[in-house]
Amino acid sequence: MSAPTFDPSDPAVALDPYAAYAAIREASPVVSSREVGLHFITRHADVFAAWRDRRLGSDFGERPGFDPAAQPWRDGRYPDFARFERWDLIAIEPPDHTKLRRLVLAAFTPRAVEAQRVGIEARVRAAIDAARERGSLDVVTDLAEPLSLGIICDLIGVPAEDRLRVLDLSHAVVSMYEPAPPDAQKQRANDAAGEFLAYTHDLIRERRARPGPDLLSSLIEARVDGESLDDDQIASTAMVLLMAGHEASVNAAANGVAAFAAHPNEWRALRSGAVPLETAVEEVLRWDPPLQYFHRWVLEEGFTVGGPDGIPIPKGRRVGLMIGSSNRDPRRFPDPDAFRIVRGETAHLSFGGGIHFCVGAPLARMELVALFDGLARAIDELQILPGAERRPGFQFRGYVHLPVAPPR
Ligand code: HEM
Repeated sequence: MSAPTFDPSDPAVALDPYAAYAAIREASPVVSSREVGLHFITRHADVFAAWRDRRLGSDFGERPGFDPAAQPWRDGRYPDFARFERWDLIAIEPPDHTKLRRLVLAAFTPRAVEAQRVGIEARVRAAIDAARERGSLDVVTDLAEPLSLGIICDLIGVPAEDRLRVLDLSHAVVSMYEPAPPDAQKQRANDAAGEFLAYTHDLIRERRARPGPDLLSSLIEARVDGESLDDDQIASTAMVLLMAGHEASVNAAANGVAAFAAHPNEWRALRSGAVPLETAVEEVLRWDPPLQYFHRWVLEEGFTVGGPDGIPIPKGRRVGLMIGSSNRDPRRFPDPDAFRIVRGETAHLSFGGGIHFCVGAPLARMELVALFDGLARAIDELQILPGAERRPGFQFRGYVHLPVAPPR
């Protein structure tokens, strides 16, 4: 039998990856994708373990034996992106990661997140009231985007007039994380990273002169082991939060609305109050996660998939931790393709695991609960209207537009 393969750059796979996942997951715990130079790990237990395996890392740093050009943005053509990545929390490893993460976590304590609730609920109400008045509702641009982008920009201290620019820059930068972006896309991502960094540095200068009650001012004032952060560290940290703070949450909301529209019984169950919103949101996150995979480098020899006697992956290779496939693994979730909001399974891997586990998970959950609460109160029958447009690409799964029949 020939070895199973998987090509995430195939638009048909990106459109509906779940059938392809089922086939590769049953065939093997690891599937190589020559097209994008990744070994994809397909099963829940193995992805869960990989996230915690210290032989894997987000970056290979200066380690000998690694080809710097193998990292999509490290071949010298994308210096601005590389400058951002140098202190991008998601891309760095201990000890740098440990220090920066501690500072960021301080802004996402349960108390700090709870303090966002009133603002989140008010934003949802305002968006739904406006949709009712207007007679139209695009779940992405009228509801989820203003909600998540507004909350994270307020938190960091980005003025209201700059938010659409932040949104555009963010979309361009994150397109670098697709498995194997074409050169023109990488160039655009690099240029956007340069502009985003310049913008953030300007904002830091402003806040240094006039501190405010925002996270940027806190990062400027913060001390780690008696030392303050330098501007590059602060700029990358603010930037990663300004991107992570809305990209996935918006897509999770849209994927959830699409899931409910395709499962009217589940929508009725949500509206009836029979299933708590928090429980339903976990199924939304499991069933169609907004981020389909993250990559790691194999930093040491001896890494195997499927236990110590499993399939070896040599040092220097790149593995893809498949979230979407893990969340549908029948070894972990009975009847995994069924969208059933009563499940309340929090074992999905949508927020990652290990030292890079999503810092914003409590905030994202709160936003999603408020959003589905608002929609469930306002809309009897969730119906998608013509004009829905999927976001291109594989890693970020969601919609650019998702118009639904508006509340009456
Ligand atoms: C449904 C929404 C979200 C999903 C599915 C999601 C998913 C993830 C995943 C899978 C990772 C791990 C990446 C890796 O291992 O390489 C991650 C990391 C991260 N997320 Fe989220 N995220 C969401 C919302 C948010 C929000 C709202 C924020 C910020 C306010 C945020 C901030 C971060 C940060 C800063 C990291 C990096 C943590 C680290 O490297 O230590 N995320 N997220």
